[in-house]
Amino acid sequence: MLRTHTCGELSSAFIGHTVTLTGWVQRSRDLGGMTFIDLRDRYGITQLVFNMETHSALCEQARKLGREYVIEATGLVAERSSKNPKMATGDIEIIVEKLEVLNESKTPPFTIEDNTDGGDELRMKYRYLDLRRPAVKRNMELRHRMAFQTRNYMDSINFIEVETPVLIKSTPEGARDYVVPSRVNPGEFYALPQSPQTFKQLLMVAGYDRYFQIVKCFRDEDLRADRQPEFTQIDCEMSFVTQEDIFNTFEGLVRHLFRTVKNIEIDHLPRMTWADAMKNYGSDKPDIRFGMTFVELTQLVKGKDFKVFDDAELVVGINAAGCAEYTRKQLDELTDFVKKPQIGAGGLIYVRCAADGSLKSSVDKFYSPQELQKWADAFGARPGDLMLILAGKANKTLKALSELRLEMGTRLGFRNPTTFAPLWVYDFPLLEWDEETQRFYAMHHPFTSPKPEDVPLLDTDPGAVRANAYDMVINGVEVGGGSIRIYNKPMQHKMLQLLGFSEEDALAQFGFLMNAFEYGAPPHGGIAFGFDRLCSLFGGSESIRDYIAFPKNNNARDVMIDSPARISEEQLKELSLRVSI
Ligand code: AMO
Repeated sequence: MLRTHTCGELSSAFIGHTVTLTGWVQRSRDLGGMTFIDLRDRYGITQLVFNMETHSALCEQARKLGREYVIEATGLVAERSSKNPKMATGDIEIIVEKLEVLNESKTPPFTIEDNTDGGDELRMKYRYLDLRRPAVKRNMELRHRMAFQTRNYMDSINFIEVETPVLIKSTPEGARDYVVPSRVNPGEFYALPQSPQTFKQLLMVAGYDRYFQIVKCFRDEDLRADRQPEFTQIDCEMSFVTQEDIFNTFEGLVRHLFRTVKNIEIDHLPRMTWADAMKNYGSDKPDIRFGMTFVELTQLVKGKDFKVFDDAELVVGINAAGCAEYTRKQLDELTDFVKKPQIGAGGLIYVRCAADGSLKSSVDKFYSPQELQKWADAFGARPGDLMLILAGKANKTLKALSELRLEMGTRLGFRNPTTFAPLWVYDFPLLEWDEETQRFYAMHHPFTSPKPEDVPLLDTDPGAVRANAYDMVINGVEVGGGSIRIYNKPMQHKMLQLLGFSEEDALAQFGFLMNAFEYGAPPHGGIAFGFDRLCSLFGGSESIRDYIAFPKNNNARDVMIDSPARISEEQLKELSLRVSI
């Protein structure tokens, strides 16, 4: 190596040693007689000192160094006269005796510091510079540790990592496919995997009873802070297991990650049925760091000539403890919040419970104090509390109240990113009805098995069938999802029929899987974790982009390499493609 040490490891124990460091010039200060340079590498920053009196030529050379120049410096480790306790190397400095510029640098378009002056797009365009910032580097290190500990844990319980192909055909996970044209098969396309779902099931048929893979998945869907077109899963599958075995094994993984990466002990995970999650939190991924569970008032409030409630399918609210003193302005803000188009509530009704216990509401015209008291009893409201109520169509109202609950949780400081509240949500519905296309879709995917006791309903009331499907949720984020699978041909066939696949399509798309089921398929099930989401959660950020070395922007573009991009006429021809835009 050109260096003897890194910029993060020297301390007073090295005083008197001659060392050689390499790195990037973070900043330089010219104090006339002395020039100081902060030299940065992956491991930290070390102060270099150039003395005009003793080494004037060297000092002149140092003064010319620009930000981000790459240098090699040799010198003596010395005790600093003014120590910097905030820096790991703050006790020492290097009195430089030899300096070599390994490469020059243009002035970077933004400062390479945690509090950078660079905007999002600029930092994405120069992502290799952004990656030099300590905060981003820490995220990459966290990601590495998570992957490393995942492999450690999975290996320790006999899972093997098997790579599955990337050029495959459609695996339905609810998004559009990214497709790749085949040159040697004109007019035919591969699809990139939305997940390795079918392959991991085939590995179970092959007898590899504990599989995992840290694997790239590709989904062409609308992007959000927690979604990228290519993202990574910890994909897992096991044979001869029940849902209980899956819960135990994979909460083991998550507890191992919390213990080894964050030094946090997590209890056994609580479990909640999907129906309870929807009823109490209006969401299949409830943030249970705080309570504020839903209280339904539908029956209690009808028949008093208040049209909004009388016409509503559902009247439901939350009790915000200690918020009775909210000002008009604060209440207006909350009303504006629920009326935003993304949330879509018609309005917000509130009841304050004053310090003396008296109740004051925005609907006093319609309801007597005695009636309001019944509501307060239903909420378990105490003096000082504020009840917030929404009404309307059931699904929309649950969703809107869920958003309001999260907003209140944030405002009241209940959503601390260093507190973690994981849980299992299970017994999801098997199917989801889509009004627009007038057909059922698989809520998880078509390979998920129905609960045995609900199988008779498949013929009579498919929408009511529950699945052996589960999600792991942490702090309101769906970090993983999976199911116990169908493993026989007739049931898989029936399922595909229910989902509207013609005989022909079912065979063309999934014949290989159904055929495999005829060769001794073991009962099996599994789960996949969103690895980027897990990392961002562990790191305390909402955006998974911060934990991906080279992410895409919200238009699914990589602005650094400028992709996607057009291809040449020759390439198009070779691929038997014609583009008309
Ligand atoms: P599912 O589709 O629920 O299940 O995906 C598993 C987990 O992957 C994460 N995830 C994403 N992360 C970032 N960007 C995206 N676009 C994205 N989409 C999903 C989520 C999610 O919980 N094959 C099944 C798993 C199984 O049944 O075993 C599957 O892929 O955290």
